[in-house]
Amino acid sequence: MLAMPLADRKVSALRAGAFGLVVAVALIFILFPMFPNRLNVQEGEVAGETIRVHGQVVVGEGEVITASVMQDLRDAGLVGAGLGTDDVAAAVLAALLGATALAGYLYLFQPKEASSPPRLLLLALLVIVWALAARLFLAQVLPDNDRFYLAYILPVAAAPMVVASLLDAALAITVATTLAFLATFAGFYQPDARAALGGNPLEAFQMVSVYVLGSLAGIYTIHRAERVNRYLLAGAVVALASFAGLLMFWLLDAQRELVDLPWMLAASALGGLVSAVITVGAFVVLGMLFGITTRIQLMELAQLNHPLLRRLQAEAPGTFHHSVVVGNLAERAADAVGADSLLVRVGCYFHDIGKLARPGFYIENQFDGRNPHERLDPYTSAKVVSAHVHAGLELARRHRLPAKVRAIIVEHHGTRLVTYFYRRASQENPEVDSKLFAYPGPRPQSKEAAIVMLADSVEAVVRSSRDRSPERIDALVEAVINERLAEHQLDDCDLTLRDLRAIGEAFRAALRGVYHPRLEYPPPTAEEQETLAAHFLQQVPSAPIDGTAPPIEIERSA
Ligand SMILES: [Fe+2]
Ligand SMILES: [Fe+2]
Repeated sequence: MLAMPLADRKVSALRAGAFGLVVAVALIFILFPMFPNRLNVQEGEVAGETIRVHGQVVVGEGEVITASVMQDLRDAGLVGAGLGTDDVAAAVLAALLGATALAGYLYLFQPKEASSPPRLLLLALLVIVWALAARLFLAQVLPDNDRFYLAYILPVAAAPMVVASLLDAALAITVATTLAFLATFAGFYQPDARAALGGNPLEAFQMVSVYVLGSLAGIYTIHRAERVNRYLLAGAVVALASFAGLLMFWLLDAQRELVDLPWMLAASALGGLVSAVITVGAFVVLGMLFGITTRIQLMELAQLNHPLLRRLQAEAPGTFHHSVVVGNLAERAADAVGADSLLVRVGCYFHDIGKLARPGFYIENQFDGRNPHERLDPYTSAKVVSAHVHAGLELARRHRLPAKVRAIIVEHHGTRLVTYFYRRASQENPEVDSKLFAYPGPRPQSKEAAIVMLADSVEAVVRSSRDRSPERIDALVEAVINERLAEHQLDDCDLTLRDLRAIGEAFRAALRGVYHPRLEYPPPTAEEQETLAAHFLQQVPSAPIDGTAPPIEIERSA
């Protein structure tokens, strides 16, 4: 998906409501109809299977269920006439609260990365699948008191980490707290486990706390992660945070036993590891399925060894150099305003790949002074020049470049005019139709695309200016930014005027570094020349001085 239309970038009340409804309905089904612990047995019957309460056998297979066994089962909440209305009401409320917490966040905070219907579907799927996994897993481990710590193997942190990698970190924190609540509820909802947790309310509090702490640790560690090994580190940090949380509660427990410690450690370590593995797998697969650009992909593209960039270097060296310089400028500007500097850099490397179709038609590649536009009329010239946008998109598609990079390629000229040829044409005919000279657009839709547009123009004007004094550079940067504003090219992106000021400052600082006035080296005096010559002769006494080696030359300038 390229250049999302404005309407698609908002989580409307309808979208948030539909999301909430789907999640709520799914959660209701996940939480209550599968109620494996309810037993359908009567006093005096022969038990068809071994029945346990809190892991203890109360009646073996083939034994008669006595009145006291029946009482034990009743106390543990394992027998009853199906689902009680209070149970159903509690499950419905839990599902509604969880779904509302997520939908409310989406509507009120409008996370940009999770606004389109496919992304909302992805989020809903993640929440539903994880809630279901928690429900099934905890139903197995919780009723058994001896295996209580196994509950922490559940990789609750994986879902928020996937959300943070693919969508948005703040949204991931909301998902983390909601899932911790839902998972604990799912555990608590089972009568047998409820009896166990109810006996020690600290344990329910411990579950929700450890799940939240582990997830937060995971989200923080993988925030803007650019390498896969960062995810393994995140697994270790999740394990550490979970263990620290468990230890804290263990210290508060009057009946603590030393034997709990290795269990806690093993469960946290396994939980962290499983979270990391699931996160890497899920984010690679889901990222591809939903066309979401990941940082790992961007990191690979930033290495400059992509076949397209190699071609650019060989076939259009001027454009390649221009792209790298624009990348440096834009990266600094992105850092200055908190935009994604990695995406900006990669976007710059690839923004002009369309010029590969006809490198010689672009001024930066005209080394021999030959300009093929001299033989063309301004209309044809403008068409040829502006064609690099679509040609670039075509190449990007063929090489499967990520959607965000493709968006930068099509948006980097916005709907501007191919100014030089438009001016030439309007000199000949003042009535000329400006549309014939316009780039296809759209205008930059993101901060990152806008920064690439500005850096691209700034680099071009500074390169073509003879005067590169600091004052002139300041004036050129200012002029470019003001011109883009006046042309309304920045209307669809989220840059503020303050951001533009910071971007301008970053450009100036970077350009001053490149074009600082150089000190001229004074030529060496005759005395210096003699001393240097003597010095080199001393240094290499075995050097042939019979004329077989070239004479030592003293460089006049560095
Ligand atoms: Fe371009
Ligand atoms: Fe460019």
